[in-house]
Amino acid sequence: MINVGIIGAGRIGKVHGESIMRYVKNATVKAIADPFMSEETKQWANDLGINEIYTDYHKILEDDDIKAVLICSSTDTHSTISLEAIAAGKNVFCEKPIDHDVNKILEVKKALENSNVKYQVGFNRRFDHNFKGARAAVEAGKIGDLNILKICSRDPAAPPVSYIKVSGGIFLDMTIHDFDMVRFMSGAEVTEVFAYGAVLVDPAIGEAGDIDTAVISMKLSNGAIAVIDNCRRASYGYDQRVEAFGSLGQVAISNDTDSSAVISDKDGVHAEKPLLFFLERYMGAYVAEVTEFIDSIENDKPVSVDIECGLQPVLIGLAAKKSLETGCPVKVADIAAEYGI
Ligand SMILES: NC(=O)c1ccc[n+]([C@@H]2O[C@H](COP(=O)([O-])OP(=O)(O)OC[C@H]3O[C@@H](n4cnc5c(N)ncnc54)[C@H](O)[C@@H]3O)[C@@H](O)[C@H]2O)c1
Repeated sequence: MINVGIIGAGRIGKVHGESIMRYVKNATVKAIADPFMSEETKQWANDLGINEIYTDYHKILEDDDIKAVLICSSTDTHSTISLEAIAAGKNVFCEKPIDHDVNKILEVKKALENSNVKYQVGFNRRFDHNFKGARAAVEAGKIGDLNILKICSRDPAAPPVSYIKVSGGIFLDMTIHDFDMVRFMSGAEVTEVFAYGAVLVDPAIGEAGDIDTAVISMKLSNGAIAVIDNCRRASYGYDQRVEAFGSLGQVAISNDTDSSAVISDKDGVHAEKPLLFFLERYMGAYVAEVTEFIDSIENDKPVSVDIECGLQPVLIGLAAKKSLETGCPVKVADIAAEYGI
């Protein structure tokens, strides 16, 4: 049994706490830490059987019985806590993004070179049953050579502007998952990015210096072309689809729904809306990613979503940001070169 500590008891910390305590047989959450531990969160932890509740995460790092930590705190704490956890010899699962600052990600990368702990990044969509199925088809050559990859990623509703202000911008907050999906689905690297963006959902998002709608085109290292469309509002729910088109055919996935029932009547043909948001759509993926993390520790296997998978989408996101600002295509290698990579 592997003892785990969770750092950060917000939305995603609770998701991982529940998935480990309910579904991961060979791990248990020994402790959880959050400086703003509410009575409600304490009750939630007690109900799950998590008995050690701290406001200071260092208590988790000091506990020799804890073999792994999940960093689920606010983004601006991830790289610092990662460095401390690696130094304490803990295996680390870090929520995305590792940091908005490439130099800080590189510090974590360097620390990992001198240690033998596992480090997995929380790109959960790779573990979604639909995306996995589409990737398996591409990998098996069922669509031939990949020509075009299309990713549609739209949230049901925009977050509060207070969130937007500290999010790092749409490309590093929201599209970052889609950049990871481009790498995962294609098995290739993004080499060049061109981004269009607009404020069409909420003017306050524009006033905060961000956009809420975007289309990003990318050239890939295998010669294929990819396109992502993003919007912070989709009136019908969380819209997460992908299509890979190749020389022999195409593979596509549709949204998950509560049921596949389709009602036909005099007004038309009616089906269920997509599941509401990420907690509904990706719960299975959250369980699967943590299960794999624990398995990699227990059986000393490499993690599939490693530090490089954490770094590349940030570089691509910065290229998209620069493209939006300049109106020109941007090479990811030029962004990397700014950081000596
Ligand atoms: N992979 C995904 O699908 C996914 C989904 C949601 C959020 N996230 C990521 O997870 C992180 C947290 O997001 P959230 O939605 O749960 O936010 P949240 O605001 O609900 O929770 C963050 C928690 O971290 C706590 N915290 C802040 N500083 C801390 C510290 N020093 N030590 C311990 N806890 C600290 C806060 O008090 C808060 O309770 C973000 O980086 C976000 O990008 C990933």
